[in-house]
Amino acid sequence: MQQTVVEHIEPVAEDVVALTLRAASGALAPWEPGAHIDVSLPNWLTRQYSLCGDPGVRDAYRVAVRHDPLSRGGSEYVHRFLRPGRALDVSLPRNHFPLVPAARYLFLAGGIGITPLLAMLRAAVAAGRPATLLYAGPSVDRMPFAGELRRAYGDRVRIVETGRHGRPDLGALDASLAPHALEPDTLVYCCGPAGMLAAAQEAFPAGRLHTERFQPAVRSFGPDTAFEAVCARSGLTVPVPADTSLLDALAHAGRPVPSGCREGVCGSCEVSVLDGTPEHRDDIGASGGRMYACVSRARSARLVLDL
Ligand code: FES
Repeated sequence: MQQTVVEHIEPVAEDVVALTLRAASGALAPWEPGAHIDVSLPNWLTRQYSLCGDPGVRDAYRVAVRHDPLSRGGSEYVHRFLRPGRALDVSLPRNHFPLVPAARYLFLAGGIGITPLLAMLRAAVAAGRPATLLYAGPSVDRMPFAGELRRAYGDRVRIVETGRHGRPDLGALDASLAPHALEPDTLVYCCGPAGMLAAAQEAFPAGRLHTERFQPAVRSFGPDTAFEAVCARSGLTVPVPADTSLLDALAHAGRPVPSGCREGVCGSCEVSVLDGTPEHRDDIGASGGRMYACVSRARSARLVLDL
């Protein structure tokens, strides 16, 4: 954990505030575009936010928080109760959405999905790569950072007010809206609501498209079944009943794993699998002998974990 202090809370759109979190002392851990942090709120909730500031600023992080009308307490707290001067613990940055080197970029943002793409656009432009941001939202006053982006990047930023013009058809983008979209060496990064992500997945081949979800995709899996988790370091065997997540079973057995979203999108609960076959149910794309304990289960009767 890293200790920060809320330095500044600034409205950046209707129902969206940007927080500047200054290091309590010294520098904060470095990060790269696409990274996010867990923020431990004073009401005991932990929430994940993409870093949307400048990675070159080493003593502060910037995040943006949309007031979710269906808030489970995180954004409600930030918007109603959080004040400058409040100390906040934040995690080290994690990055499941890294900016891969490419000849050119198309960034597709919907609403608060702009946050990870801000630093990506900055990095692409600084590297001298052709880059366009297509940014969709109901109206400019509800699109965080729209003015800041237009001032900084001019016609590299194409704003589409869906309330007036409808949603852009990602399957039929023309050069006026998205230069380079059809060129095979253009990488496409998309972050936004589920409909936009689905449209991007239809419009672009998987090898060119990188997406990040704030909400889990709607998918179905086979019935949940019981299995055993063996904690290799202690030899403890933890039964995981069919109606209990691996995350909860480990916590009940006294081997808690850090967690955040509990929906398979943030990556906080990653564990290493030494033996057995996980059933991956996350939206991050677990690989390399890893799994996310909040949602993923087992195809084998036993998993051996590096715990
Ligand atoms: S707690 Fe977020 S992925 Fe498991």
